Amino acid sequence: MQARRAAKARASPTSVKLVVSVMATPSPEFGFSAAAALWRQRHRLAEARPRLDALRAAIDDPVNLSPFQYAQLYAATLEFAPDLILELGRHRGNSTAVFLAAANQLAMPPGSLVSLDLSSNWEQLTLPRLRPVVPEDWFAPLAALRRDILRYDFATLLGQARRPLLFWDAHGLEVAECVLGSILPRIAAMPHLAIMHDVSDTRYADPASLAYGGDRLWKRTDHTGPRLKLGHLDSEVGQVIAILDFATRNRLPLHSADHSLRTELSAGSQEELASLLGEYFSTEAHWLYFSLNQVPPPHTFPRYEPPEQALNHTGRRIGTALGRLLRGR
Ligand SMILES: C[S@@+](CC[C@H](N)C(=O)[O-])C[C@H]1O[C@@H](n2cnc3c(N)ncnc32)[C@H](O)[C@@H]1O
Repeated sequence: MQARRAAKARASPTSVKLVVSVMATPSPEFGFSAAAALWRQRHRLAEARPRLDALRAAIDDPVNLSPFQYAQLYAATLEFAPDLILELGRHRGNSTAVFLAAANQLAMPPGSLVSLDLSSNWEQLTLPRLRPVVPEDWFAPLAALRRDILRYDFATLLGQARRPLLFWDAHGLEVAECVLGSILPRIAAMPHLAIMHDVSDTRYADPASLAYGGDRLWKRTDHTGPRLKLGHLDSEVGQVIAILDFATRNRLPLHSADHSLRTELSAGSQEELASLLGEYFSTEAHWLYFSLNQVPPPHTFPRYEPPEQALNHTGRRIGTALGRLLRGR
């Protein structure tokens, strides 16, 4: 899928004339840039290459995260230096391993990388393959929880955070509602960085990829089949609609890492990065980043209720309506 995604988004200097006001260039008051992170962390990245090679080989899931994305996430984490990393969607653990590597570099304490997923892939497939590659205390920062994001107690977790980094890689509009309605309101007032995976930038896509090419209309929320092209956003995953809606309402700039890497690195810097990092450098990225710190409050958020509560709410409304009907009102 990554290869397909990368092929579709292959570099092209052609700019697509679709503009969405929320897709902005970084403003000076926002202290994070994907390109600056990669550049400033390049030597630590170069040192980390053997470890990243070993992690990737053990995890053996190149579809979900490519080498250059390993590097970009590693650099972003070192650069932002969070006190808490909240990973939504672990699967076999590519991003989990990157964040663990960065958490070790940053000497983050036990439990400071909280990873949520319903699947047991990490324990069953990945851990047995990672254990021979890294020392046991390397895992200490990680709390790899098999929990439903929709039902997780973010109030308690985020109540203790001071500088969280959110990695959003679980798909679907239900999770999106939880991120936008339950997670973001809890971190809006503190320094934070949110990274959303699986979103490319139409400005750097092969113009041919804009054609439907026989595809039917996008109607799904998972990542199979037709892609959505919304302004500069280009994705297979439905939550891209939710983030664009949210960003529009809050006048929140959505930064594409692709745009950052292509516009903020000089040709000389790109050459240096390519020779230092090899396959760990690309100007492709396929992720977005944003922070409500860039927009003065008040912010607006969708209402969020965990599934049971939402059901109870609907049940109560049906009960009230039925009662009225029976009473003839
Ligand atoms: C694209 S994969 C994550 C890939 C991973 N970040 C990586 O780098 O390889 C998405 C994951 O989100 C998880 N997921 C989706 N909805 C979820 C939910 N409601 N609660 C917990 N996990 C969920 C799925 O089980 C799946 O493993």
